[in-house]
Amino acid sequence: MPRQKVVIVKDLTSELSAFLSSLTYNKLFILTDENTYTACLPVLRPIPAIRDAAVITVCAGDSHKNVEQLSYIWSCLSNEGASRDSLLINLGGGMITDMGGFAGATFKRGIRTINIPTTLMASVDAAVGGKTGINFNGLKNEIGSFYPPLCVFIDCQFLQTLDHDNILSGYAEMIKHALISSEEVLIPILQFDLNSQLSTLSFPLSTLVTQSVAVKEAIVEQDPLEKGIRKALNFGHTVGHAFESLSFLKQRPILHGHAVAAGIVCELYLSHRICGFPLPSLSRMVHYIKEHYPPFFYECKDYDKLYEFMTHDKKNEGGIINFTLLAGIGEVRINREVPKNKVLESLDFYRESFCF
Ligand code: GLY
Repeated sequence: MPRQKVVIVKDLTSELSAFLSSLTYNKLFILTDENTYTACLPVLRPIPAIRDAAVITVCAGDSHKNVEQLSYIWSCLSNEGASRDSLLINLGGGMITDMGGFAGATFKRGIRTINIPTTLMASVDAAVGGKTGINFNGLKNEIGSFYPPLCVFIDCQFLQTLDHDNILSGYAEMIKHALISSEEVLIPILQFDLNSQLSTLSFPLSTLVTQSVAVKEAIVEQDPLEKGIRKALNFGHTVGHAFESLSFLKQRPILHGHAVAAGIVCELYLSHRICGFPLPSLSRMVHYIKEHYPPFFYECKDYDKLYEFMTHDKKNEGGIINFTLLAGIGEVRINREVPKNKVLESLDFYRESFCF
């Protein structure tokens, strides 16, 4: 799989402009959603190549990451005469980089794409690493491919428009990257004052974003197709996805990263019980997440449904739930089978720590 280039930009217009000038393509397309069309596209307009680009705009929100909108993107590309030599820029959050990446992967068997993430979640996770796809048949990212963009341009100025919940959501993936990486990466993540520095999003956040992306890139480079160590990036997500699915089922949807933060708590508990993850580190993380994230409420009667969601996770093989756990900070253990009673215990642990 070709390697993607990830650039944390200081000056997006000049760096993107220089990159576009270094490429040959016959037509440039930009995919936006209704929000990034008004809030972010104007930032790129000074670039001459962008002024001539065809803009494709879809509805915002993960519920629109579907086959109908994908088909709309394909139609626009086709009607506007896109060819294999065309280039598609995906300007938006994870929904846009996932769906635009998949449109790029499939149109005429693949056209080149560039990702410009505009949310923290997309900057540190979705836009980086080449996973693309859409939701289908009620299942998240059910259809997709590994198709890395040529380049990812991360510009932290876009993060200034995000609300606190969306910052927290992306930050959960940064916490995850730190936990699977090292104490050295984790300490500044826990020290960063999410509340007071959010309004300015000054230097430290972009430094943390750079470190976080570096953790993901290093893992993806070793295992782009998720046969082994890339499963480290699923830490917190087996339970996290189940929480997210339950929140949709109950029509009280929560942001992906909020579900992941709660999932991290459960999976750290399992890490402690099964892999000996140290208790002081577990307590430190529970305290941190409790201080920063809203609790996710569920009841004992939800346990069966939550467990069922976990068994349906597409990363499982042979009906066995495959957990990624930690023996310590940065000590990743993949493909861990966990008995059902321990999984349920971890759900108890979360509720006892957060909901009473
Ligand atoms: N979001 C996890 C991964 O890219 O593998």
